[in-house]
Amino acid sequence: MGSYMKNITEAMRWRYSTKEFDTNKKISAEDFQSLKDILRLSPSSTNIQPWHFVIADDEAGKARIAKGTEGMYEFNDAKVKDASHVIVFCSRVYADDEFLNKVLDKEDTDGRFAEPKFKEQMHQTRKMFLDICRYEQKDEPHWLIEQLYLNMGALLLGAATLGIDAVPMEGADLKALDEEFDLRSKGYTAVAMVSLGYRSEDDFNADLPKSRFDEETIITKA
Ligand SMILES: Cc1cc2nc3c(=O)[nH]c(=O)nc-3n(C[C@H](O)[C@H](O)[C@H](O)COP(=O)(O)O)c2cc1C
Repeated sequence: MGSYMKNITEAMRWRYSTKEFDTNKKISAEDFQSLKDILRLSPSSTNIQPWHFVIADDEAGKARIAKGTEGMYEFNDAKVKDASHVIVFCSRVYADDEFLNKVLDKEDTDGRFAEPKFKEQMHQTRKMFLDICRYEQKDEPHWLIEQLYLNMGALLLGAATLGIDAVPMEGADLKALDEEFDLRSKGYTAVAMVSLGYRSEDDFNADLPKSRFDEETIITKA
C-alpha cells in the first residue's frame, strides 16, 4: 500500500460497500494520513468547510462509536467494531458569525487575499449564499450537510485508489453519537459514518456484481 495503485475507473469498479472486515488488518499510518488529507482538502461551497470528524483507530474508540449501532442499527455494529478505522462525519448545524469569521481568518492566514477588500468581498459572497439557504430556502442545516456528502464521496474514491475498503453508513443512531461525543454543545451533529479497512475473505458482498443504471438511462445529451 502507500501508493496510488488504480486509475479512477478501476478504483470505482473495485470499491464496494464492505459488509465484513478482516479484523487482523490495519491501515498503515501513512495511508491513513492520505485519507485525512482528503477530508481536509475536499471542496465545499464558498469554502465553508462545515465539518468535523470523529475518528476511531482502536478498540476503545470504536466501542464509543458503536454506541450508535445498538438496537435497530445493530446491522452495522460489526462494520464498526471490525474495521481498522471508523470516521463519524459531523456537520455544523448552523454557520454562525463566529464560525464564518473563523473560515475567513483562515483564508486570510493562508494568503488568499492580496488586498483587504478581497477579504470583505469573500465574506459578503459567502454570506449571500448562506442567506439564500438560511432565509429563502429555510434549509441552512441541509446545505451544510450537502458539503459533507461531497467530502464522503472524495474519501470513498480516495480510499479505493489506495486499495482500502470502506462502507459508508447512514444507519446509525445519530442522537446517541451526538451525546457520546458531546457534539451539539459544540454546534455540530453526526450525519453518517464511514468504516475503513480490508475486506474479509468471507464477505458475501465482495463477489456480487455491481448494479447500476445504464449510461443511456442516466445521461442525456444537451
Ligand atoms: C450515504 C450512504 C449511506 C449508506 N448506508 C449504509 C448502511 O448504513 N449500511 C450498509 O451496509 N450500507 C450502506 N450504504 C451502502 C449502499 O447500500 C451501497 O453504496 C449501494 O448499494 C451501492 O453498492 P456499492 O457501494 O457496493 O457499490 C450506504 C451508502 C451510502 C452512499
